Amino acid sequence: MNRFGYTTLTVAAALAAAVWTAPARAADSDVSYEVVDGYTIREPLTDTPGDPVMGRKWAINRKLGNCLSCHQMPIPEEQFHGETGPALYGVADVYDEGELRLRIVDPKVLNPHSMMPSFYKVEGLNRVMKGFQDKPILSAQQVEDIVAYMMTLRDTSKKSQ
Ligand code: HEC
Repeated sequence: MNRFGYTTLTVAAALAAAVWTAPARAADSDVSYEVVDGYTIREPLTDTPGDPVMGRKWAINRKLGNCLSCHQMPIPEEQFHGETGPALYGVADVYDEGELRLRIVDPKVLNPHSMMPSFYKVEGLNRVMKGFQDKPILSAQQVEDIVAYMMTLRDTSKKSQ
């Protein structure tokens, strides 16, 4: 990438840092969140900050996040990385925490035709597997853990993290 590309990324990261907002609350059992201006969920879903180490585990877990089935990520010990979605290397250089949270909670707000599941949404889901009709795929804490892990994906190079 040329030095202009690099500068653009740096500016984007600085802007992202500028709109970051302070933590708030929400009970784990409630599926409630506020989408602000159609592009971000600024307030964390839980009081307990996300744990990036756990988030990496949920992202790998084939029954929970299963993010690897569609995304390449810096997780070299796993063999198969799908390519349905964009690679997530350096994704925190592009999006801030709130934007990443919305992309996991309900990507269909941004793209109604998205192939990506809405991981923390209940209403309006169709063709949901039996037993999953009334619950989100991930708990609020798992979403926060994954957001925390995504926030560690800072480098656009493909080295392992
Ligand atoms: C069934 C495939 C699929 C799965 C599973 C999936 N995604 Fe996605 N994801 C996509 C697609 C496709 C996009 C591109 C945007 C769109 O179509 O909504 C995307 C976009 C994204 C983006 C925005 C990336 C960018 O550069 O714009 C992030 C962040 C993301 N996904 C994170 C995750 C995480 C974290 C998980 C696991 C919890 C996950 N995805 C699971 C298909 C998937």
